[in-house]
Amino acid sequence: MAKTIITGQTLRFAADPFHAPPEEAVLHERQGAVVLQGDRILAVGPAERLLAEHPDATRVDHGAALILPGFVDAHVHYPQTAIIASWGKRLIDWLNGYTFPEEMRFGDPAYAAEIARRYLDLVLANGTTTVCSYCTIHPESVDAFLAEAQARGLRAYAGKTCMDRNAPKGLRDTPQSAHDDSAALLARWHGVDRLSYVITPRFSPTSSPEQLEALGALWAAHPDCLMQTHLSEQTEECAWVAELFPDARDYLDTYERFGLVGPGAVFGHAIHLGQRERDRLKEADASLVHCPTSNSFIGSGLFDMAGLMAEGQRIGLATDTGGGSSFSMLRTMAAAYEVGQLRGTALHPAQLIWLATLGSARALRADHLIGDLAPGMEADLVVLDLASTEAIAQRAARAETVWELLFPTIMMGDDRAIREVWSGGRRLPRPYTR
Ligand code: GUN
Ligand code: ZN
Repeated sequence: MAKTIITGQTLRFAADPFHAPPEEAVLHERQGAVVLQGDRILAVGPAERLLAEHPDATRVDHGAALILPGFVDAHVHYPQTAIIASWGKRLIDWLNGYTFPEEMRFGDPAYAAEIARRYLDLVLANGTTTVCSYCTIHPESVDAFLAEAQARGLRAYAGKTCMDRNAPKGLRDTPQSAHDDSAALLARWHGVDRLSYVITPRFSPTSSPEQLEALGALWAAHPDCLMQTHLSEQTEECAWVAELFPDARDYLDTYERFGLVGPGAVFGHAIHLGQRERDRLKEADASLVHCPTSNSFIGSGLFDMAGLMAEGQRIGLATDTGGGSSFSMLRTMAAAYEVGQLRGTALHPAQLIWLATLGSARALRADHLIGDLAPGMEADLVVLDLASTEAIAQRAARAETVWELLFPTIMMGDDRAIREVWSGGRRLPRPYTR
């Protein structure tokens, strides 16, 4: 099988930089190489050695650009693409005022396909090769998204967003139809090519206890699927959940009592957590997803990265498009850094890059497949230009370490820093957007 050798600077992980010194956890090669064969990574190491070992490989040289695993965005809403950056509301008003009217349109397969295409063009232009998306209540919205991801050969995760109360007519299903539609989509998509179905109750305010129970039963029947939902995002939301579930011990318990807490549960936001919830999340080995641009944009709060990591929680990073204000994981890393600073912890660039790649892959339980440059992994790569604008280039010129070289791109970079994207061993055509 034909081989390709991509040369440039490389970063890969020897350990988790939250639990090992960052400089030791991440291996940097100034003149490195990644050898691809078929859809996989065959070898990673110094360019000189790998060029000698693979003389038959076609070379793609990126000079001083940085080759990384493709970014993994662990929580997005692709149907919110066209309403991103909508002004001035708190979560519940934002859902009612902007999100629900837009999501109404996704019963139309042509509109769903148009937005799925637009969304994937935008994220690929930003170097993101895998996303885990909420769709809408319409099965058509899942078909449109996964068909588009499949046509592009992407690894992708998605589920029908279930809601049977506190949502407008036209955006409500029932416990039975949520179960049956989700089961049918799961049968159609889960494990096909690089696609995975995700059981997706939106959040406990919009699912009755009967619906949560039905989805808990579906998950019990398909434990290899992920289950995604929202948890403790905004204080008003938490108060509403306490009113809706007066018997629940806390917000997490509204899921736990229906079998929706366990390995493979992926909870977005998770800001306002009590100690019982933190202990239970850790014990269950569930995943938490930090959505920093969204948490600032909607005014939700400051995620406790340092405290939750110290407890050993499984944590990923996400844009939460379109509650989040960006499609870019570079911008999202910058926001995570800023939130860390506001909480008194400066996240190291190695930790930010890990969160956006292997950390998010681990949150999606796919860290054996994606998120690192390692032999046997799927060949999803992003190549970053570390001097993509005047502002970044003049700062990078002063860099004495790879971290000083990379950090200006994390803080100030955008899609102009994305030099090339590879998915499943294929170089994606430029331009990604139409
Ligand atoms: N909680 C329930 N639904 C949503 C959503 O679409 N976006 C955000 N940010 N939070 C939610
Ligand atoms: Zn969300």
